[in-house]
Amino acid sequence: MSDRLHLNLFTMNSVEHVSPGTWRREGDRSHEYTDREYWTDVARTAERGNFDAVFFADVRGIYDVYGGDRETAIEKAVQTPSNDPALVVPAMAEATEDLGFAITKSTTYNHPYQLAREFSTLDHLTDGRVAFNVVTSYLESAAANLGLDERMEKETRYERAAEFLDVCYALWEDSWEDDAVIRDADAGRYTDPEKVHSIDHEGEFFDVPGPHGSEPSPQRTPVIYQAGSSEYGRNFAANNAEAVFCSQPTEEGVVEYMEDVKSRAADAGRDEDAIAFFIGIVPVVAPTEEEAEAKYEALKESVDVESTLALLSGFLDMDLSELDPDQKVEHIETQAIQGTMNAFTQSDPDHDWTVREVAEFSGLGSTSPIVVGTPEQVADELVYWHEEVGVDGFNVKEAVRTGSLDDFVDQVVPELQDRGLFRTEYEGETLRERLYGEGQSRLPADHPARQ
Ligand SMILES: Cc1cc2nc3c(=O)[nH]c(=O)nc-3n(C[C@H](O)[C@H](O)[C@H](O)COP(=O)(O)O)c2cc1C
Repeated sequence: MSDRLHLNLFTMNSVEHVSPGTWRREGDRSHEYTDREYWTDVARTAERGNFDAVFFADVRGIYDVYGGDRETAIEKAVQTPSNDPALVVPAMAEATEDLGFAITKSTTYNHPYQLAREFSTLDHLTDGRVAFNVVTSYLESAAANLGLDERMEKETRYERAAEFLDVCYALWEDSWEDDAVIRDADAGRYTDPEKVHSIDHEGEFFDVPGPHGSEPSPQRTPVIYQAGSSEYGRNFAANNAEAVFCSQPTEEGVVEYMEDVKSRAADAGRDEDAIAFFIGIVPVVAPTEEEAEAKYEALKESVDVESTLALLSGFLDMDLSELDPDQKVEHIETQAIQGTMNAFTQSDPDHDWTVREVAEFSGLGSTSPIVVGTPEQVADELVYWHEEVGVDGFNVKEAVRTGSLDDFVDQVVPELQDRGLFRTEYEGETLRERLYGEGQSRLPADHPARQ
């Protein structure tokens, strides 16, 4: 993409996201996820650190793969209970001026006409600071609650997702001309109907005549985020994403993913730098190396192994309770998250991961690198990933809420800024301008939605 470095906080409107059990630590604020003040505090801190966005994961269904029932998931708060991510955004936007908000929504369990309006509303209310993380949902348990007899096959989910976005793009980009709203009080004309168009979409999954119900918002289309790793997911990312989230823990895995998605994007007629690649990181930072190591050891102690296995069983669509802890995790083309599967079975060809190793490795932040050290050491590691490996940004995952974010903002961000690597103030107004530069609030011309 560019030399710009990007930082998101990766979180979830729930007790636990991807560090199961850490909510039990003294002083941890995870249980405050139901409070408006918690989220406005998070937003202010992320903005103090000049972060691009707070990125909300979200999931439908319960992690009931592990042990074949939902007991562990419910008892140990494995991403349940959780609240809707979009609904906390207006409060966070009110508390900030520049911070962006990336919101995960499912194309399997929503309707594009409805969702397009919700994102237009949020883009208006935030002055163009929203992104849509497009997911197809992976838990079988979601399907029955949302009107399906069973989970759709992944291929069908991605076909639906592609058509879903086509409908949204037509509503956001083509339905209302920029000067459709005239607000001529004397003539009693609010809108020029000649400049509001039907979209007349008739497809396999949706028939949507339009027009869009909302007038154009600052970005029109929210910034498109995506995290697919399967064949279907990579093609979908290459065709649609402006930012993707790579889940590989090794340099080799990240490089393979980036090169592959870039080449697919070029095949789709897009500039190969059109997509920003993010990896997750779990920072454990302290003023001295000894303190950072001690903190890391204490954090590892707080991880709950059973809930880690319940979470991963959902990610992999594989009941890990049935396997011997020393058994190798075999590669499958999973109906759930291929990126997590590949992290264990493909990112390091010289290593066979056992169930025990997977559980130990993933307890803090799932499959992302854990970076332990002084602010200088953590910055060095990020600089390596950015400058040598070529990733554009980092999704910062918290092991302690909100201590991990506070430490990162107070200690690592100033170090990156001192080295001239990270912004000291926001440029532009909208989230898309953070990615592509000032004046670029709308989708770039080579994006398929603009073709
Ligand atoms: C790092 C990462 C984070 C993800 N976050 C979510 C999420 O919050 N909600 C969700 O439903 N899916 C999430 N997914 C799932 C993917 O976006 C995608 O829908 C799923 O992985 C199936 O596609 P794939 O097999 O092509 O990866 C995530 C995947 C990855 C790798």
